[in-house]
Amino acid sequence: MPKVKIDNFEVEVPEGTTILNAARQIGGDIVPPAMCYYSTLKGSGGKCRTCLVKVTKGSEKDPRPMPKLVASCQQTVMDGMEVANITSDEVLNARRGVVEFLLINHPLDCPICDQAGECHLQDLSFEHGLESTRYEFERRTFEKIDIGPYIKLHMTRCILCYRCVMVANQLTPERVHGVLSRGDHAEISTYIEKAIDNDFSGNMIDVCPVGALTDRTFRFKSRVWFLNPMDAHRDCPTCSGKAVVWMYGNEIYRVTARKDKYGEVHDFICNTCRFEKKSINDWTIEGPRDIDRHSVISQNHYEGQALTVR
Ligand code: SF4
Ligand code: FES
Repeated sequence: MPKVKIDNFEVEVPEGTTILNAARQIGGDIVPPAMCYYSTLKGSGGKCRTCLVKVTKGSEKDPRPMPKLVASCQQTVMDGMEVANITSDEVLNARRGVVEFLLINHPLDCPICDQAGECHLQDLSFEHGLESTRYEFERRTFEKIDIGPYIKLHMTRCILCYRCVMVANQLTPERVHGVLSRGDHAEISTYIEKAIDNDFSGNMIDVCPVGALTDRTFRFKSRVWFLNPMDAHRDCPTCSGKAVVWMYGNEIYRVTARKDKYGEVHDFICNTCRFEKKSINDWTIEGPRDIDRHSVISQNHYEGQALTVR
């Protein structure tokens, strides 16, 4: 099995593992951020460039460094490879540039955005963003669109990571949604705003790294950091029925799939569980969900609170 060194931490991984996934096996701060790669969606990655790293030694056989920074979600490791992420100023500078580009058109409307507190772009801007913009041109803006009864699209916030398109391609039988046009005209469209009403369309909300796709049944109801996320399950004929219910007292404000520490879902849930089961009697509550990545939520010391079930 190839051995790779990332920021001086060594790990041995199976052949064909990407640098990003090798870094995830090490864990901690050396894991590159990923805005478009999503391990459970085939073909994802390679769009956003936030995961760029520097390969300082190609392999044991050919130790030459790679001439340009590479996308760690796409580049597979070789035996003896050495990679620099947070130990390289060149990488950190490039990441600052990528964040600046992502923010050219993205509105800074975090105070009213439902994704605030669990938005990967918010985290990235906090770590790498500039205090002000150097962009002098008019930003592109779009009208908000209802994608069916449950999902709202704010195209102005979209960073074109293609994750939602992959959910549509891979989880739903008829794709009615994709990216139209290219360059600064590119936009997510439902092809004449045709509603996406199949059973798994709600998963687009969970995979969206920003607040471009939001849950219409939850919009403006609360901030995520006021809610207590609880692992819960129910007998569901369509999906595994394993979800997270976000509660305020005994009320369920929203239901999402369970995400790992990189914000990725491994067990996608159906629309019935997500949008229609908002009563505490619909669920068996297992206990508080441990959220270790998004500090603003994990700051909420809900573990100590008694859960009273009516
Ligand atoms: S709507 Fe969200 S998930 Fe879809 S491409 Fe835009 S940012 Fe990505
Ligand atoms: S996560 Fe690698 S290019 Fe987006």
